[in-house]
Amino acid sequence: MVKINGSLTHFANPKADAALAYSDAQKDVICVAKAEEAVTDIKSWPAYRQTPLHALNALAAASSLKNIWYKDESQRFGLKSFKALGGAFAVARQLQSVLEQKLGYRPTTQQLLNGSLKDEVAELVVSCATDGNHGRSVAWGAQMFGCGCVIYIHRDVSEGRKQAMEAFGAEVIRISGNYDDSVRQADSDAKANGRIIVSDTSYEGYMEIPKDVALGYTVMLAEIVEQLDGEIPSHVFVQGGVGGLASAVAGYFWDLWGDKRPTVVIVEPEQANCLQRSAEEGKTVVVEGDLDTLMAGLACGEVSALAWEILATGGDHFLTLSEDAVPETMRLLAQGFESDPAIEAGESAVPGLAAAVIARDSEDFSAKLGLTADSQVLVIGTEGATDPELYKQLVG
Ligand SMILES: Cc1ncc(COP(=O)(O)O)c(C=O)c1O
Repeated sequence: MVKINGSLTHFANPKADAALAYSDAQKDVICVAKAEEAVTDIKSWPAYRQTPLHALNALAAASSLKNIWYKDESQRFGLKSFKALGGAFAVARQLQSVLEQKLGYRPTTQQLLNGSLKDEVAELVVSCATDGNHGRSVAWGAQMFGCGCVIYIHRDVSEGRKQAMEAFGAEVIRISGNYDDSVRQADSDAKANGRIIVSDTSYEGYMEIPKDVALGYTVMLAEIVEQLDGEIPSHVFVQGGVGGLASAVAGYFWDLWGDKRPTVVIVEPEQANCLQRSAEEGKTVVVEGDLDTLMAGLACGEVSALAWEILATGGDHFLTLSEDAVPETMRLLAQGFESDPAIEAGESAVPGLAAAVIARDSEDFSAKLGLTADSQVLVIGTEGATDPELYKQLVG
């Protein structure tokens, strides 16, 4: 057995049921048919490349699992996280919608990319709140397509993350509150200034654009399905912030694989467990406080309403992971366990893998999650060293 130090808390969702059918309301949030458009579109962007799916055979053997597949998003579009797919895709969709109203026809992605509508696009400004990765995607998309960009960050977002967004030409505004405060500030300033909010989280009155963000993520999921070459994982362990990623994963696989879909295990920081708390209460719950965690991308206290549409019944298990497991798992991946490849993984990339290994090391958690020597576990390594200073400090 391989040992990762750290502890878990567990809640089994009583509303999850493997026999449930994927509903029309859930399909409206995410489905394979809608995802196909996003896949075709994003694959046409310059510099598109499939990211690797590593089979961590040595770690799987040492953990007494049949397989651990690690989808490695550390180099996605050079932005170093899967978020590159969502924000930038939603920016493109918004520019198309706004220009359609103005011009009377819907411009193609290629027209946005080749600059033929340069002047019209330059008049538009997109905006969002972020703890780093989503904002980087929006800023990059704005630069790629040629519109303005204003990003809001909270007090704990590092200078390195701020500068990464400024490097794509975005104006970055830091507020004194937490992530959820930055969402509200971005929203009210956008209304006052005529900016288009491209948020990765949904809330009352703002439901459509986050669907496009989630559709962007499905490119990664379509790649995984291709790379699995007919195999279906028994479990997927996925990190939760506002739940956008986890709901895309749960929904896409549910629509694609029906009752053969994997058991979905959502992993959150102890101090920012809004998804676990919501599952416990049977409705969305806000976690207050400063949401202090090393896992910066997961420091969210409010669940995305759209995400909950899927996760309320599609999230099977909700775990929290203690902070101490994070640097250890990052180092394990950086070194490459025995014959496994060395992988660059940031703080928010590793909770899924860490939780799977820690759970398998315990008879109790293995039984609760249904993990056995035949289990085939998929984890999503959602980011690389998106904060290089911190990465250096933690990994050495
Ligand atoms: C690296 C990384 N992983 C996972 C997540 C969680 O995604 P979501 O907030 O959609 O749940 C985020 C969110 O920013 C992230 O940056």
